[in-house]
Amino acid sequence: MPIPENLIDQVQNRTDIVEVISKYVPLKKTGRNFKGNCPFHHEKTPSFIVSPDKQIYHCFGCAAGGNVFSFLMKQENITFPEAVEMLAEKVGIVLPRQSGQSKEQASLANQLYKVNELATEYFQYHLANNAQAKEYLAKRGIGPDTIKEFNIGYSPESWDSLLTFFNKKGVASDLLEKAGLVIPNDRGGHYDRFRKRIIFPIVDLKDKTLGFGARVLDASLPKYMNSPETTIYSKGRNLYGLNISREHIKKAGHALIVEGYLDFIIPYQAGVKNLIATLGTALTIDQVKLLKRFANTVIMVYDPDEAGEAASLRNTDIFIAEDVNVYIAELPAGYDPDNYIQKFGAEAFEKLAKSAKNIFDYKIEKLLGRFNIKTSNGKAAVAGEMLPTISKINNAVLRSDLMKRLAEKLGVDPDALKEELKKVKPDYSARQIVAKAVEVRKDTRTAQEMVLAVMLEGGAFVDAVKKSLVPDEFVNTSIRDIVKAIFDMHDQNLEINPAKMISHFNNSSDAAVIISEAVNLSEMMLDKERVLADCIARIKKDNLNYQLTELRSAIKTAHDSNDETRLNDLIKEYDSLIKITKV
Ligand code: UTP
Ligand code: MN
Repeated sequence: MPIPENLIDQVQNRTDIVEVISKYVPLKKTGRNFKGNCPFHHEKTPSFIVSPDKQIYHCFGCAAGGNVFSFLMKQENITFPEAVEMLAEKVGIVLPRQSGQSKEQASLANQLYKVNELATEYFQYHLANNAQAKEYLAKRGIGPDTIKEFNIGYSPESWDSLLTFFNKKGVASDLLEKAGLVIPNDRGGHYDRFRKRIIFPIVDLKDKTLGFGARVLDASLPKYMNSPETTIYSKGRNLYGLNISREHIKKAGHALIVEGYLDFIIPYQAGVKNLIATLGTALTIDQVKLLKRFANTVIMVYDPDEAGEAASLRNTDIFIAEDVNVYIAELPAGYDPDNYIQKFGAEAFEKLAKSAKNIFDYKIEKLLGRFNIKTSNGKAAVAGEMLPTISKINNAVLRSDLMKRLAEKLGVDPDALKEELKKVKPDYSARQIVAKAVEVRKDTRTAQEMVLAVMLEGGAFVDAVKKSLVPDEFVNTSIRDIVKAIFDMHDQNLEINPAKMISHFNNSSDAAVIISEAVNLSEMMLDKERVLADCIARIKKDNLNYQLTELRSAIKTAHDSNDETRLNDLIKEYDSLIKITKV
């Protein structure tokens, strides 16, 4: 049963957004608003604005925004009803019980966090009581403090020890399955996923345990087992160890990227702390963006074998496209960061990281080993491998500098090389095309947002929009829904209030961001009538152009299939639309 809207309004009326957010973020008064460093992304100059008049917040840096509930949802990682309940308690409003559910049961994610927390304790208990497991960790050089800091544990050799432990505590097998801790068998029961393995909890930046990695004690296979993708765990969106190393990465200004659990833990224990581990898979854009919050330079420390080489080359392009500086440090054959440090010490490891080559030098060196650049074919082959990487560099100065260096290295004419770069451009210019399309869409969207912004002022502005546009003319569906809601409220003579509007949409993140952004847009407008007229015209024109494009392609199809009647029909429609554009 949803919380009644009038109660949500009451909670909101009795709450001051500035007071709530101040508990988490130091805010400074600037004019009518308050400003601070955004808690949702890393920044040095504040772009996080809280408006006491409008009771909304918005960040210009990362586009987070919404009302006081949205803030708590994001900050505390809770659901909308949970955020309402949290504030209701503070202001002394009693909400009806949520259909007999306790607070924890409200969200699956929260239940899974709890289960994982308890599982971590369970694994720790079993490590403390298992000589063989303790011996294994000692043999790997992992000390007691490190075991504690990383919450390392052990899953005993049993098919149902974890299952029974949790069932006895009243946790259903079904929920354990959702947490990825047990696996269903074909008799309708379940069995423990991890058996006789060292357990490495995977923890996010809010210190919530998302899942686990588990290693055998001997040479059996598979060496590592990991939690499956669950409601709370997505491999491609997290980086192992970042919760522990984030401050060290910030301080160092760069991150060392390693592959394995032990490749993180052993250097960290030895004092090299600015690392993250990819857990042996290719990095995703999400992971790169996550890392970028803490440093803009990375050094990949990989095995020099073929798999390691392929992995580093695969990963570099994604960093380059995100404007992250990439360096590659190569270990001697047969070493990974773990056993390198065990053998040569942390200082040698740091030295090796310092001697990392930039991606350009690294890649070209690899290629020069593979091809003979004394021959034209060799030159062409090396150029063919290098140019796609260079084309991904967004910075034009850097790109042109590398082109010059590549031409020198290969002993070829720089102009000829530039010609070749144009040929690899399909990849590059496709990106530009997409970027352009996004830009155009953004432009249309901005016009829609501006109109919405003015509408939030209510009154005559809503009448003006209603006279010229129908909701369907708002191409963005989220904006369209908000516009519809404003029209409805206006018809019923209700006050248009941005913060309440966000609650009306149950604080869907889309609505929260769009509305808070619109409020800020509106504060920057000097002449609202003028903006409104311009943006309405713009929306009409964009929609018309879109219809014309669609018609042109339909006309071509009708023409190609000799469909006379349809063709005439379409052309008539096209002509009548064209006439509108001429007025
Ligand atoms: P490695 O095979 O390089 O192992 O895998 P490692 O990290 O050096 O492990 P140790 O030193 O023998 O304990 C690198 C990473 O790839 C993932 C793990 O995250 C591992 O740390 N991996 C590896 C798996 O997920 N499953 C496997 O079976 C093997
Ligand atoms: Mn290893």
